[in-house]
Parts: sequence; C-alpha cells; structure tokens
Amino acid sequence: MAIFKYKDEEALGIVLSVDTATVIIKVADLDKLRRMQVNRLVVLQSSKPGQHLIGLVQKITRSSAEQEQTGQKEADEVEMPALPPQLNLVRASLIGTLIDRVGTKENVFRRTLETVPEIDAKCFAVEGNVLTSFMRVIANVPGEGQKLSLGHYTLDESAEAYLNGNKFFQRHAIIVGSTGSGKSWTTARVLEQAASLPSVNSLVFDIHGEYMPLTGDGIKHYRVAGTGDLVNKKGFADGILYLPYWLLDYEALISMFVDRSDQNAPNQAMIIARTVVQMKKRFLEENHQKELLDNFTIDSPVPFSMDALLDELNRLNVEMVPGARSEKQGDFYGKLSRMIARLENKRTDRRLGFLFQSPRESGQLSWLDDLSRILLAGTSQQLDKKGGIKIIDFSEVPSDILPLIVSLIGRLSFSLQQWMIPEKRHPIALFCDEAHLYIPERAEGDAANEVSIRIFEKIAKEGRKYGVGLVVISQRPSEVNHTVLSQCNNLVTMRLTNAEDQSVIRRLLPDSLGGFSDVLPILDTGEALVVGDASLLPSRVRIQEPKAKPNSGTVDFWDKWLERECKEGISEAVNAWRKQNLQ
Ligand SMILES: Nc1ncnc2c1ncn2[C@@H]1O[C@H](COP(=O)(O)OP(=O)(O)OP(=O)(O)O)[C@@H](O)[C@H]1O
Ligand SMILES: [Mg+2]
Repeated sequence: MAIFKYKDEEALGIVLSVDTATVIIKVADLDKLRRMQVNRLVVLQSSKPGQHLIGLVQKITRSSAEQEQTGQKEADEVEMPALPPQLNLVRASLIGTLIDRVGTKENVFRRTLETVPEIDAKCFAVEGNVLTSFMRVIANVPGEGQKLSLGHYTLDESAEAYLNGNKFFQRHAIIVGSTGSGKSWTTARVLEQAASLPSVNSLVFDIHGEYMPLTGDGIKHYRVAGTGDLVNKKGFADGILYLPYWLLDYEALISMFVDRSDQNAPNQAMIIARTVVQMKKRFLEENHQKELLDNFTIDSPVPFSMDALLDELNRLNVEMVPGARSEKQGDFYGKLSRMIARLENKRTDRRLGFLFQSPRESGQLSWLDDLSRILLAGTSQQLDKKGGIKIIDFSEVPSDILPLIVSLIGRLSFSLQQWMIPEKRHPIALFCDEAHLYIPERAEGDAANEVSIRIFEKIAKEGRKYGVGLVVISQRPSEVNHTVLSQCNNLVTMRLTNAEDQSVIRRLLPDSLGGFSDVLPILDTGEALVVGDASLLPSRVRIQEPKAKPNSGTVDFWDKWLERECKEGISEAVNAWRKQNLQ
C-alpha cells in the first residue's frame, strides 16, 4: 500500500522555484506555514506518477512587509486587509525519492533524485501516521531477526529509529560528541543489542575501564596485564592479556627502542632490523620450522629471545675488528650504548610487564594461536560459546605507548582477517573509544602515533574488503585522524559545542544537509543526529538508555561536599601510586 495518498486540498503550498536539489515553496496559509518546521520532512509531487520527492525543511521566512503591517495593526488596533499570500516562503532541500512500487517491492526509498519537482507542484506534510509508516519504510532493515535500533525519533516518539546493521559496520561509523553528551551510553546501547546475536564478533578498546558494567553471555572482559598481574601471571582464563613484544612489527619495535633524536638512530634501527631477523631465524631453526624459515620477514609474528637480542647488541657495541696494523673498533663500537640502556629500561619497567615479563608460554609460536582464537572468534566460535564481544580494558597501559598497543591489536585483527580464506572469514567490528588518544590527526613527531595512524588508516581504507569494521568514538573529532574519519560513512553525532569539532563534522555531512548541522550545539544529552548509509535519511534520534550503563565517571561535586563525613583513601592512593597498582 502506498504511503503517500494525499488529496489536493491537503497541500501546504506549491513549488515556486527549483534549483538542482533545493526548492522554494510558497505557502499561502499561515496555519499551514506553522505546520512546517525546520528539519521536518515534506513531500513534493513528482513529474512521474507513483513517485514522490522528499524534502527537508531548511528555512522558513515571512516577508518583512508583512511584519511591519502586523506591528501597525497592534499599534492602531485597525483591522488590516488579508496579507499577500506569496510572501511565506519555505526552503527545502531534496533528499530522496519514494517510489510506490519497484518490481514486486512496495514503497522503495532511494537517496537519489529520479526527477525534480515541477513549478506549481504541490507540497504536503509528513506527520503522524504517515511519518511513522514512512520512517518504517526507510528503516527497511534487511532480513528477519533482531534489528539494530538506537532509540526513537525526536520528531515522533512513537517511531523506532532502526539502523541497517549491515551498512553501519560495513562502511565504518563514527560516534562523536562533547564530553558527557552520551557517546559511551550510545556505544553501550549498540553493544548490548549486538551482544544478543549468536555469532557477534567485536573488540571494544576501553581506555578508561568504563565498560566494566556491561555483562551478559555475549560479552567478555579482558584487561591488558598491569603491574599487579606480574606476580601470579594469571592468563586468558582470568581475563588477563599479555601481549609479548615479538608481536610488534618492525616499525613499532623501532619506535619503542630507538630514540629518533639520537645521532646514531639510523644505525641503531638498521642493527635492530638485522638482529631481530637473526634472532627470529634462530628461534625457527631451534624449533624445526623449516617451512616458516623459508618465507618469513622481519614483520612475521615469530618469537625471539630478548636476552639474545641484548647479548648481540652488547657484543656489537664493544666489538673490535682486525685493522690494517692492529685491531680497531668495529662499525658500531659505542654507538649502541644509549639504545641498550633504553631497551634495558623498558624491559624492566613493571608497567610494561605485559610486553616484556609475560608468562614463559608466551614465548611459543602457539601463543599467537591462543590469543587470536580469543580475540577473533565470534560468540558461537568461542570454546565456551560465550563472549563474542571482547571488551579490552587498557586502563593500565602507560599513555605514551597506548597507540602502539591498541594498534597492535588492530593490526592483529586486520592481518588475520586478511590471511583468512574468504569463505571462512567472520566479520569483526572494532569499537575505538577515545580514538583521539591513539588515532590522532597529527603524529607530531611521535613514532608510536605514526605507527598507530598507519595501521588504522589501512583498516579504514581496506577493512571493508576483509570484513573489519571500525566504530570511531571521540569527543574531539577535530583531533582524530581525518583520513580515518573521511572513510566513515555513518555518523552518529551527539551534542558538539566546540566550533572546530563542529566544522569537521559539517564537512563530513552531505551538502544537502548543511543546515541540519545547526542543531549540533543544541542537542540534548542522549540525543543524536544520525546520518549515513545505515539510516537512509538523516534523523534526530533520542538514544534509548542501555540496560547496563557504562561508568561515565560523573561525580556530583556539590552533593559530595554536602556529606557530613567522607571516605578516607589518601594513604591507600599514595601506596597504589608507588606500587603502580590499584589492587
Ligand atoms: N541516552 C541517554 N539517555 C539519558 N541519559 C543519558 C543518555 N546518554 C547519556 N546520558 C547521561 O549523560 C551522562 C554521560 O554520558 P556518557 O558517559 O555516555 O558521555 P560521553 O559522551 O561518553 O562522555 P566522555 O566523552 O566524557 O566519555 C550519563 O552518565 C547519563 O547520565
Ligand atoms: Mg565516554
């Protein structure tokens, strides 16, 4: 059944002018004008039968002549003649076409303009039941089963705002908004719905341990090992992740071990490359991995011994070689001292224990199999059939190497998907909360940032082909890498107050929606502007509260200060700071 069945007398106005995708509508009646509001939808007659064009109201004006007359009326109390009707103008941008029937399908919405309206075409309102049915059509979510819903439309609380769950993850998404606008809650809402799907597969990079309260069969929690985990070396079963240093690729190793400002940096990088290859070869030889030996590169995830690497560096650093007359200093004599000291420091730094002091088994090839099986498997592929959504808590990872560690997991997921036989590939979405911290716009000479930007840019550009979706979440879109942002075709924008952030988001919006972005600073907490592949029509959505709420860390200062007694935790804090351990 066609949704739009208007009678001529229901028309609000008629088209006065058309300019590519913008129309000006003349509204004769003031009451009718009141039914038009900015950001509401209108329907326009198309020149093709069985089609209607959909417009988004952008601007409503009443002529100044009319206002003057109204003012006069009040002053003089004189009845004025009826106002000239052609002075009420509404500007709308055309955003798509609704076709009553295409083949066997009824009510098909397309984001293209198959025709433009003719002059004098009639314009109608989309309200009440018509709006509800229209929204249902445009939310045409494929397939049976559970759909992805964010909440309800602000325009019409009775209509549920569904997203196309395929398109949302296929073409990447961003969730942005000023601090406290509701990003983490929105993320929790998406996660909790995904969690109920039997084969869901996602990684959530939880930088502050905010998502701890999210639980259920579809969700598992992991934490990158902190200093407190180094003593009893708990493992995967207890939700503790070790990420041994040999998983880092060459660039990442260099960024960690070589100080760029050192005048010997190029030599040091070269020596690291040479020695790491030697050490990996030695490992493969000792483990009789003939096939791997023939084909591996420096970036291959093959374990090597850090002790052996250091021994070799120390040897080169004092090496004497035969000279013309007597022994002379080797090529690298004394040039590696600072790098060796740096490496020693990192190796013994307890905060980096998850890299350098992981359990003995982590030095085996099979460690990567185990780790990958945990991180890359959907719920139904997990041994216990639980936890396809893996929330990884990075709160104990030192901030200077956070980009290296998050991107390490990003690279691991991407590489495995890339190397998987296409028929066996199971899609995975990476939720990157606080993305500005590890996918920054500029690396600013920081090698760890460069490594991370490179990896996430690659995922943003090529992830779709390999079934890796990104959900970039940030309070500062202007500080998130623009190449990554521009690859994201779905936008969930919550309240944004900063002008720079607004302008970055505006540039990502389709041109025809320029005016829509004016609502960015006035959106309510928990309200979002949703635009993109997954929603067909831009809409304002009130996000439904997730069942389990993330720890958003909002502290009620005044109420706390009002308390007669407060808790004492200062000595404990001093102690924990010294130990670098909260437990
Ligand atoms: N959909 C919602 N409905 C009602 N209240 C909400 C909603 N979303 C968020 N809130 C309120 O706003 C607070 C902050 O939300 P949230 O933690 O999601 O913000 P955020 O955007 O992630 O902030 P930050 O950038 O600081 O992490 C919540 O504690 C909650 O009180
Ligand atoms: Mg948050």
